Amino acid sequence: MARKQRREGPEQLSGSRAPLARWRFEDLPEAHFLDDVLAGLSRPQKAIAPKYFYDAKGSALFEAICRQPEYYPTRAELALTRAWIADIARFAGQGCELIEFGSGASIKSRLLIRRLRPAHYVAIDISQAALRLAVERLGREFPWLQITAVVGDFSRPIDLPRALGRRVAYFPGSTIGNLLPEEAEGFLHMTRGLVGRGGAMLVGVDLKKDANILHAAYNDAAGVTAAFNRNLLVRMNAELGANFDLRRFAHYAFYNVARGRVEMHLVSRLRQRVAIGRHRFAFDEGETIHTENSHKYAVEEFQAFARDAGFEARKQWLDRRGLFSLHGLRAA
Ligand code: TRP
Repeated sequence: MARKQRREGPEQLSGSRAPLARWRFEDLPEAHFLDDVLAGLSRPQKAIAPKYFYDAKGSALFEAICRQPEYYPTRAELALTRAWIADIARFAGQGCELIEFGSGASIKSRLLIRRLRPAHYVAIDISQAALRLAVERLGREFPWLQITAVVGDFSRPIDLPRALGRRVAYFPGSTIGNLLPEEAEGFLHMTRGLVGRGGAMLVGVDLKKDANILHAAYNDAAGVTAAFNRNLLVRMNAELGANFDLRRFAHYAFYNVARGRVEMHLVSRLRQRVAIGRHRFAFDEGETIHTENSHKYAVEEFQAFARDAGFEARKQWLDRRGLFSLHGLRAA
């Protein structure tokens, strides 16, 4: 049931002198939620795609994860972006068209926008609520900035307005690690086509490291990541008429060394049956729903990837502790 909805139009930002942000609505993710959940829970290893974490509540919980003391990626990426901003800006070039995938709260993008003065900022996110907040804030902070907000799922091809400058794709937060390696390569390929000749890409990539640091980051003591993970159950109950009992599922995240990725699961604490509308699913005690992967890449490993997708790996910037990397790729 792929309802294709596309509306487009300018909209006045609430209570500001800021210019009009243009909104576009791609294929809406809610349209596929039920079908994807039913298919995912019918597989031998039950699984749900991580994009469904990000409703308004999920996006807010994710912002809270980013503030947890154990969750180093956000701070490391912010620190390296601040430290190397002049070099990053030189690489990206003034007056470009900056296209951000999974923009969320657009915190890191503000640093870039201030320096780069892009001709156009295109923010793509699956959460309309998160996008609205981000766009309003950016409109107030940068009244000169032309913004297009695209509500959409960037794992599907996205149809963008005509380029208003040399295109630079921005994909921070190691969101690329949430894709399987073959999907990540497909995404890089797609982006290579989107930025075209002379285009570039900035990608934030979390690095391989001590498993204990990773374990702490994805199992924060305050339990915010656990709440984020369980919010998927809350969402299925509210939107799909499911009857998940939250107390019967536990958050579980661990580093799978062989595959170089943190895996996140929801573990059934007992043998149980769950209904989603008129569909029934059986869970054994200890059986899991796989909800997220976060792949970690060594610098050279990611560069090889980028080359296979048609980019030249020109630059890499790391934070002082060597936890996180930002790659500057040029369309080859
Ligand atoms: N891109 C983030 C990461 O891989 C996403 C993320 C962080 C995340 N913590 C999470 C996703 C917890 C789901 C659950 O680190």
